[in-house]
Amino acid sequence: MEILQSAAALQAQTEIWRQNKLRVGLVPTMGALHEGHLQLVRAAARENDVVVVSVFVNPTQFNNAEDFRLYPRVPDADAALLGPAGCTALFMPSVEQMYPQPTVLRFDFGPLEQVMEGEHRPGHFHGVATVVSKLFHLSRPHRAYFGQKDLQQVTIIRQLVADLSFDLEIVAYPTIREEDGLAMSSRNRRLSAEARAVAPRLYQALMLGAGLAQEQAQTPEAVQQAVAEFLAAEPAITLEYFTLADAQTLQPLAGFWPRGRTVALCLAAHLGGVRLIDNVLVTLPG
Ligand code: PAF
Repeated sequence: MEILQSAAALQAQTEIWRQNKLRVGLVPTMGALHEGHLQLVRAAARENDVVVVSVFVNPTQFNNAEDFRLYPRVPDADAALLGPAGCTALFMPSVEQMYPQPTVLRFDFGPLEQVMEGEHRPGHFHGVATVVSKLFHLSRPHRAYFGQKDLQQVTIIRQLVADLSFDLEIVAYPTIREEDGLAMSSRNRRLSAEARAVAPRLYQALMLGAGLAQEQAQTPEAVQQAVAEFLAAEPAITLEYFTLADAQTLQPLAGFWPRGRTVALCLAAHLGGVRLIDNVLVTLPG
């Protein structure tokens, strides 16, 4: 596995792959890799000739300087995991390589980003779209792989690809969970033992909501209330939001259950200073 640190080196390598008609898979990450990332890398290795994994903690998508500073960074451990998973080239640029000058362009995804993560982390999706666009230009992938845990991110990146006619396919893989249900996340490394012990409650809350949504005996608002109350019973968890949204449009459900649609149950919560997100999908009967 090659390690590339400059944008020019990645572009030069991409050019060679393209000339040799090799299919390129890209897995963008911020490092601190876990099984969820490795699943994406293995899939990319199965479905392409070469695999680029980027490890870059992107400052422009953090709206909180402390969160950026504390984001886990373990480049050596990441590199050790990637070769065996099928990575051909690991792209680990510096901030200066990715942002040689401050960007001026602003991304605005309208209603798609006015809810959930976009609402609670202003500017987050502008930063994601900026860095992902740069990675697409530098590596010119045929396919790019993302985890469904960041459901809103996947939807917004699909919109980005459509709006800017990027010639590539977005591939999304389901969330990988620990045995107790906690969604795998790089941020889990920062959980204290106490916070880790109660963290599975987030998935339990989503499963409670999913069961109630499937029954449709109560309104979406009542289900929202039931999930919020379930989480409020655990003092170590502070719920930031729990939303029942149409999985395609991401718009919150209001008053009724849309027949035949897939509903996304999404939440963000704080556990001892660590912010986690998770979601599950429920398809309603037609
Ligand atoms: O999902 C992530 O890790 C990041 O948002 C991404 C897509 C690598 C962009 O920095």
